[in-house]
Amino acid sequence: MTTTPEIGARSLPLLLLGSESDPASERGVACPGELPPASDPELVERARAAKAALGDQVFVLGHHYQRDEVIQFADVTGDSFKLAREAAARPQAPYVVFCGVHFMAESADILTAGHQQVVLPDLAAGCSMADMATFDQVEECWEVLEDMGIADDVVPVTYMNSSADIKAFVGRHGGVVCTSSNARRALDWAYAKGEAGSGGGGKKVLFLPDQHLGRNTAVLEMGFSLDDCVVYNPHRPDGGLTREQFRDARMLLWRGHCSVHGRFSKASVDDMRARVPGVNILVHPECRHEVVLEADYIGSTEYIIKTLDAAPAGSSWAVGTELNLVRRLANAHPDKNIMFLDKTVCFCSTMNRIDLPHLVWSLESLARGEVVNRIQVDEETAHYAKVALDQMLALP
Ligand code: 13P
Ligand code: SF4
Repeated sequence: MTTTPEIGARSLPLLLLGSESDPASERGVACPGELPPASDPELVERARAAKAALGDQVFVLGHHYQRDEVIQFADVTGDSFKLAREAAARPQAPYVVFCGVHFMAESADILTAGHQQVVLPDLAAGCSMADMATFDQVEECWEVLEDMGIADDVVPVTYMNSSADIKAFVGRHGGVVCTSSNARRALDWAYAKGEAGSGGGGKKVLFLPDQHLGRNTAVLEMGFSLDDCVVYNPHRPDGGLTREQFRDARMLLWRGHCSVHGRFSKASVDDMRARVPGVNILVHPECRHEVVLEADYIGSTEYIIKTLDAAPAGSSWAVGTELNLVRRLANAHPDKNIMFLDKTVCFCSTMNRIDLPHLVWSLESLARGEVVNRIQVDEETAHYAKVALDQMLALP
């Protein structure tokens, strides 16, 4: 097993508005110490002072979905892929404070050197998508594939948004991690494995845990048909699939999704197009297939930022991704009309768990020499997860 002693591998529900598919809260953990009150007017100054006192001792990574109050203290901001690379490239800092969610901090721990310690300011910052594939479920799925006689044809590919033990499973079975920036390249690599005759695999991919990223990449970028894809439901015997479906499918999609991006609908796109003539629809590939089909531009958070940076003044954009990022982009580009694609509030509530009080508490604790909320993946899990992560970082 992976993870910290303080928490298990499951996270809190995600949306401020809630969602029927979000797992129930299973750990009421926040932080063991005294948090400064959110009303403390000195919080920004305290964060600044603690960070300055730590100097080169600390490196702060911030995912694009983080709150503004937190992201201002990040040494580097990025999408999951960029942050994984940045974590791997900073062996100097003994402390890495990860402003993001649990699976990202685990990946940072795996990719950083042994003397570095990774801190997640709030241990309740999980990811409901990552929780939708547990290690036991994935092992059971693999046994089903073995029973069906097809396991040797399958390369597992897991989205970064999965726990370290799922990444380790994938590493042990000759697969690769991907992010939304490189899913196409990871899938090309996985399918080419069989063709190159490098010891089997490659005829089929088991894609974990985000069915939408897997389907969108296979169909829209690789020319697969929807019939080439089947959905494996871990809550049904044999994943709810027949022997023929296993045999004929090229893409076995795990039944998981992002509770934030899954909220965008074709109706929200239609509504936006009706209300704003000439609007460009820009969405993340974690959105549902019918939404992505209607979009003008599709890409990771880093892609979304670059696209809006390059957009002409006066152009209109409806963006389907997390609200902190969309708001920040709208503020950064007052000359462009940047809107949120959905009418309802859609923060990722676990990303939002990392707030200024938690950041101040983490930094001040580190400045006193006390490492709090350390994320530490056990050695064996880290070894195999790193195999799959290194394979991703080596993708052409
Ligand atoms: P990227 O950072 O890969 O764009 O993924 C978005 C996301 O949902 C992270 O949790
Ligand atoms: Fe998980 Fe979606 Fe939140 Fe990303 S935005 S951390 S995938 S729930």
